[in-house]
Amino acid sequence: MMTILDEDYRLNDGLTIPKLGFGTWLIDDDKAAAAVKTAIGSGYRYIDTAQAYENERGVGEGIRDSGARREDLFVCTKIQAEYKDYQTAKDSIDTSLEALGLDYVDLLLIHAPEPWAHFHEGDHCFAGNLEVWRAMEEAQKAGKVRSIGVSNFENVDLDNILEHGEVKPVVNQLLTHVGNTRFDLLDYAKEHGILVEAYSPIAHGKMGEDETLNAMARRYGVSVPQLMIRYCLELGTVPLPKASSKAHIDANAQVDFAISEEDMATLLAMPHFDGYGDAKQFQVFSGK
Ligand SMILES: NC(=O)c1ccc[n+]([C@@H]2O[C@H](COP(=O)([O-])OP(=O)(O)OC[C@H]3O[C@@H](n4cnc5c(N)ncnc54)[C@H](OP(=O)(O)O)[C@@H]3O)[C@@H](O)[C@H]2O)c1
Repeated sequence: MMTILDEDYRLNDGLTIPKLGFGTWLIDDDKAAAAVKTAIGSGYRYIDTAQAYENERGVGEGIRDSGARREDLFVCTKIQAEYKDYQTAKDSIDTSLEALGLDYVDLLLIHAPEPWAHFHEGDHCFAGNLEVWRAMEEAQKAGKVRSIGVSNFENVDLDNILEHGEVKPVVNQLLTHVGNTRFDLLDYAKEHGILVEAYSPIAHGKMGEDETLNAMARRYGVSVPQLMIRYCLELGTVPLPKASSKAHIDANAQVDFAISEEDMATLLAMPHFDGYGDAKQFQVFSGK
């Protein structure tokens, strides 16, 4: 039986991307192989990692141990937000491929437009991002990378690449979940044929107690995480839930239901969520 795990979107460079991915942030390198192997065994084809997660080695091991054919998988990594010059970015791509033990990645992103210490503070690093982009375009030509895109980019950051780069980004990976969705960024991406990927689609696990979500999830006979992942799919984005246990990994892919228009309207109108607690130490949840 076909499920969401078998479905793809088409990217603006003509290649395809699975509609649902597996996130690996905060999975330690020595646990990443097992988690990735479990996810692939459960039918996930898309694995999301990053240089900054320091688990590319373990992710690569999990990919090899899974027994899946490389061409059936979709692997994404991201260039460190701190790398803003051509040579460092170029070298880091080779380091990532070596750590992953792969000849190519399917998708390579600029992790953020600014170094994390200055995330969304106003210096957009326009020149630096163009240098990194040039290194990525060259890696694409060399066959080290299939598709290239960005993450955490505001619209002005995208404009910089659209105006001065040769290749158009295929995706912008953004914090996107019920209660925190940047519709201005989603609309702009759509206008330019850029797909949005939804990171932290279940709010980093922090919305489990929400009464509206619990009541709605009960009506559909699903869990709050499943409802939240489905919301991202209804928006036409690629949700990238992270989970540790096989039970959560499996559950997060059981999202083959439709949210009614009325319920989507309720979800779209949910008040802004800011309850990330301890996780606010991470810039992506800091509200900048
Ligand atoms: N580009 C960026 O800057 C950026 C930033 C953040 C995240 N990301 C990507 O997006 C991925 C996901 O984001 P995230 O890790 O922040 O958070 P998330 O996927 O929204 O939430 C993960 C949390 O939810 C829990 N969980 C998962 N499935 C569950 C289920 N079925 N029932 C109950 N709890 C469940 C997990 O617990 P267990 O682990 O115990 O299962 C974990 O605590 C990351 O791993 C990463 O790949 C990218």
